[in-house]
Amino acid sequence: ALDINKLRDESGYITIDSGYKNTGATKSAITFLDGEKGILHYRGYSIEDLAEKATFLEVAYLLIYGDLPTAEQYSKFENAIRRHTIVNEDMRKIFEGFPVNAHPMGTLSSLISAMSAFYPESYDDKGPDQTDLHIIRLLAKLPTIATWSYKKSQGHPVNYPQNQLDYCSNFLHMMFALPVEKYEVDPVVSSALNKLLILHADHEQNCSTSTVRLVGSSHANLFSSISAGIGALWGPLHGGANQEVIEMLEAIKADGGDVGKYVEMAKNAKTTGFRLFGFGHRVYKNFDPRAKIIKKAAYDVLEKLGVNDPVLEIAKGLEEAALNDEYFIARKLYPNVDFYSGIIYRALGIPTNMFTVMFAMGRLPGWIAQWKEMRTQKEPIGRPRQIYTGSTLRPFVPIEQR
Ligand code: ACO
Repeated sequence: ALDINKLRDESGYITIDSGYKNTGATKSAITFLDGEKGILHYRGYSIEDLAEKATFLEVAYLLIYGDLPTAEQYSKFENAIRRHTIVNEDMRKIFEGFPVNAHPMGTLSSLISAMSAFYPESYDDKGPDQTDLHIIRLLAKLPTIATWSYKKSQGHPVNYPQNQLDYCSNFLHMMFALPVEKYEVDPVVSSALNKLLILHADHEQNCSTSTVRLVGSSHANLFSSISAGIGALWGPLHGGANQEVIEMLEAIKADGGDVGKYVEMAKNAKTTGFRLFGFGHRVYKNFDPRAKIIKKAAYDVLEKLGVNDPVLEIAKGLEEAALNDEYFIARKLYPNVDFYSGIIYRALGIPTNMFTVMFAMGRLPGWIAQWKEMRTQKEPIGRPRQIYTGSTLRPFVPIEQR
């Protein structure tokens, strides 16, 4: 068989694949994705089945440990997470130093990175038990940290976790409970959040996950690797698109709701620089199965909550206009996971600048599972090559002679 490493070493050949459009970086047993057929499975279970029947923590366990948990395993896992939801008060002091208008993604990546300093034992790889504890700490504390940004933006004190609540309800409590009145978690809201988190939980070698694996491949600790993933997710071409989508829909509404005008602008993306956010995907070339589930959920949730969001109709109109347009058909551009998710987040009361944080909360178990798999498979340090296009050798000219 052809040994690609030998071929490279002996011949000096390098393949250029900008954006890694056709380059596989690993073999993985976590997520199966067929972009032509619109299929997505986590560890062999269809996304449709999981989104309908599972809890987010069951899916997290499945992704990280390979199988759905038994009742006993689940209760141990959930209880361990409950016990770690409180964040070190000294981390709060770091948080207090951020300006009130800091973007919650910037705050989140900084504080997750700071966790490595609070748990210095994470620097060394001391085996699976210790890794498990870091995993629990991340899953438990990320939602707590995420809610701090919102509380600060409102000028409210933070809410400490209520550990008798389930994962999603506890997050909603920390976000929305006020000291002056009793807060009851609405089961419709909690179950919609559960579904959204599951739909975002993993997506094989996307930009942020590849970042997590690449950073971890240098044997950097789990917290630093996840923090880097959060930075990658923030970009508007990746997870940041969910914030961009709602801002775009709002702008279309404010501009009279003429979706056709925006479809025309997007068709000239090269000259206008305007893309339809929430459209297109590197891998899905037929439809994004997550988008289908989310679209239906958006209608369900808005109806159950009695919310009438005119932006939902703009989204529907934009989708129809784009899907009937030659430009979008020819390039196989369909709504992606981010297109309708913001409409649900908004109906749940989550502010726009927190949308990508919600994505990070959902994607966390996927990042962890991929990091763990990369280390378990003892993958080598990631180190792409390049083709040099700069100057040939030239003599140094002293500054006064330049
Ligand atoms: N609006 C208008 N045109 C688009 C869009 C769009 N949203 N997306 C792609 N195109 C066009 C490109 O201009 C290009 O046209 P060309 O063939 O005439 O040059 C063609 O479609 C292919 O686009 P690429 O950018 O080469 O495709 P790539 O696979 O590199 O990018 C991406 C995928 C980044 C998702 C892209 O579709 C995009 O920018 N979408 C908008 C942002 C977005 O929604 N991101 C979220 C993705 S899902 C996620 O990360 C969770």
